[in-house]
Amino acid sequence: MTVMRSVVLGCGSYLPTRTLTNAELARQVDTNDEWIVQRTGIRERHIAAPGEVTSDLATKAAQAALADAKVGAETIDLIVLATSTPDQTFPATAVTVQASLGITVGAAFDLQAVCSGFVYAMSIADSLLKSGGHKRALVIGAETFSRILDWKDRTTCVLFGDGAGAVVLEAQSQPGTREDRGVLTAHLRSDGRHKSKLYVDGGPSSTQTVGLLRMEGRAVFKHAVANVTDVVFDAFKATGYTGADLNWFVPHQANKRIIDDSAHKLGIAPEKVVITVDKHGNTSAASVPLALDVARKDGRIKQGDLVMLEAMGGGFTWGSVLLRW
Ligand code: UT7
Repeated sequence: MTVMRSVVLGCGSYLPTRTLTNAELARQVDTNDEWIVQRTGIRERHIAAPGEVTSDLATKAAQAALADAKVGAETIDLIVLATSTPDQTFPATAVTVQASLGITVGAAFDLQAVCSGFVYAMSIADSLLKSGGHKRALVIGAETFSRILDWKDRTTCVLFGDGAGAVVLEAQSQPGTREDRGVLTAHLRSDGRHKSKLYVDGGPSSTQTVGLLRMEGRAVFKHAVANVTDVVFDAFKATGYTGADLNWFVPHQANKRIIDDSAHKLGIAPEKVVITVDKHGNTSAASVPLALDVARKDGRIKQGDLVMLEAMGGGFTWGSVLLRW
């Protein structure tokens, strides 16, 4: 028996050139490098240039992923772009990327699940590829969170950064075992009872403004480790794998303490954990594909490796994707 699997052909990423260090932030708000590093692991983050918008970042990440996959843009018939910071309320940022890449076939749309956006997008793209309706997809996470931060609020402005990452997924026939390449299992969850713990205080229908990010950090932290481990255990249960079987754990990069605690509870050795939060900060939907690209390009992730992706974000939303590269 064979089954269709969504196999990663390549990945790419883009970071704006400007970096903002903790020391610079300490000159703007009442904070310091020691607090930020100790509580979050963040040392610096990238900030988009004036006029540089989410679709610009996304297009560059997509072009890098296409080059890495050695396929032309004209072969892409699906773009799923995860973002909470679209260029405009509509049209979707995905169609701007589609046009920038010169693609005129297939479908392109945005998906909004805040920091879980990329994991959600991988799962949705995987379903569409497996359905047979699409053959080759660009899955992108792209954000300009610097545009929705309250730069006077030290409890949030030190945490986030801008960036984009992308993968090319292709529907391929595989033997139908857990040794297959591609997405092996995906698990998505949400619980809207927590929607006021991490939100933006504006929107087209409510205030007719964009709004700024607000977060009860401690409350989010409390749920993060429990939710993330829960949904990774779901992936283990579905496949029979354990933390010891993983080659790489590529978690959402919000806080190094959350990552370390989760990895420990999941039985994943520290040397298998990909960490980029120190250099990127929390780039929301872009954090997982940015981390994937770093670990692929520096030679850590190799073809055949078992890779666990996970994320948790506003909503709350959370999810996991287990794939073999
Ligand atoms: O990606 C979506 C998911 N988001 C997350 O996962 C974020 C989850 N939350 C966190 O990562 C952490 O809760 C934070 C990093 C946001 C905060 O760390 P914490 O250890 O939970 O600190 P806290 O909020 O309990 O604040 C401790 C103290 C407070 O002072 P008092 O009340 O103890 O006097 C804060 O006012 O630290 C103070 N504080 C700061 N001090 C210096 C808060 N922000 C800062 C700051 N610099 N930037």
